[in-house]
Amino acid sequence: MTSYHPEPFKIKMVEPIRLLPREERQRCIERAGYNPFLLRSSEVFIDLLTDSGTGAMSDRQWAGLMLGDESYAGSENFYHLEETVQNLTGYKYVIPTHQGRGAEQVLFPLLIKGDGQYVLGNMHFDTTKAHIELARGRAVNFITETALDTAREHPFKGNFDIEAMEKFIQDKGRDAIAAIVVTMTCNSVGGQPISMANIRAASEIGKKYGIPVVMDSARFAENAYFIKQREEGYADRSIPEIVREQFSYGDAFTMSAKKDGLVNIGGVLAIKEDEELFRRCQAMVVPMEGFPTYGGLAGRDMEALAIGLQEVVEEDYLAQRISQVGLLGKLLQDAGVPVQSPIGGHAVFVDVGRILPDMPKTQYPAHAFAVALYIESGIRAVEIGSLLYGRDPETGEDGLSDLELLRLTIPRRVYTDNHMRYIADSISKVYAKRDEIKGVAFEYEPPILRHFTARFRLVD
Ligand code: F0G
Repeated sequence: MTSYHPEPFKIKMVEPIRLLPREERQRCIERAGYNPFLLRSSEVFIDLLTDSGTGAMSDRQWAGLMLGDESYAGSENFYHLEETVQNLTGYKYVIPTHQGRGAEQVLFPLLIKGDGQYVLGNMHFDTTKAHIELARGRAVNFITETALDTAREHPFKGNFDIEAMEKFIQDKGRDAIAAIVVTMTCNSVGGQPISMANIRAASEIGKKYGIPVVMDSARFAENAYFIKQREEGYADRSIPEIVREQFSYGDAFTMSAKKDGLVNIGGVLAIKEDEELFRRCQAMVVPMEGFPTYGGLAGRDMEALAIGLQEVVEEDYLAQRISQVGLLGKLLQDAGVPVQSPIGGHAVFVDVGRILPDMPKTQYPAHAFAVALYIESGIRAVEIGSLLYGRDPETGEDGLSDLELLRLTIPRRVYTDNHMRYIADSISKVYAKRDEIKGVAFEYEPPILRHFTARFRLVD
């Protein structure tokens, strides 16, 4: 056995990418208001903004597109998708949605029954939090403390602090709680996995108090692979077995299929066995997403997704996927760059808070690093820190995130290990010149979700 994992695919089609000259990159980022979100993708050499919808489909998936049955109702591709999801997860009721947040917008208003009810999570993703709040609920996180210390190794930094969660339920009373959301892997703290034991414990709390458990399952296969690698008792279990056990602890799941579904668009909402909840979801999905056998997707999209969900649980695919992200992390660790450790499933998170400790949080250090990185190398990465976090809605206070992270998100089956080397080299160069990095200040601050459309100037 070699210690590295060659890509378990060969490349049939290529998409050229080009590194613009440095002066042009400088002009592009200035024109974009020093916000990488406002760059055109043709101005980007390697795009690490997200792993969502940016993966490459296989030849089988592309062939599946030709089998699209574009009937408004009862498309054959829906039945293929339904059967695939049922086999993979053991859930009875399956509704396609246009992407993950489509499933969230249908489900959360049905779960949150009273104003101010709490939805407990290990760490809610932003759109999940937004849909909880739109449904007049309150999102609360119970991530283990180790997750916030990027230097501390722990195999399952996505775990709940189960004790703290149970205490919260007892303090507030069961009726104040709408649901428990288990996010696997936990994106916001670095693509960190949650252990099977912890998922089981969260589910037991749900059962004990009669609270529904929802799995936010965007990266369910990557989580299963980590369990196989790291958790006692799972080394000899197959990935599909582990996946099924993970889902067995939930009552419903939402899925952004743009990640582990290996497609460019798609989502799923599924209910394990509660027929009444399913009927209510089915009724809501019609005005919001579309008829329940297409839910905002074309027939061909559902076919590609059904095939993607089978490919993603192949172990050689996952071994290479996780080891490629790990390679980038290791190259950075070897260069002395502080990163969330251990390395997560879909991204490497650089701890810019430790690189630029003296830069005020209100100058958004990780965003400033992203700007410098683009100018240095044409690489586009994304801030997960005080800029994304936003202001306190009541006091207007800013600079509130515990961590100032830069996410280097790796699309699936898109870049090679040599791209990882280029990325690591480029980050090391910016890191070596970290004293020259300038903070940013708003020229325009949008009232909500400000990071997407804000414009900045560099602070001297
Ligand atoms: N849940 C998690 C854990 C996610 O990471 C995302 C999306 C969603 C839900 C929402 O799904 O985008 O299909 O509507 N994450 C992307 C990202 C956008 O870049 O991490 P969606």
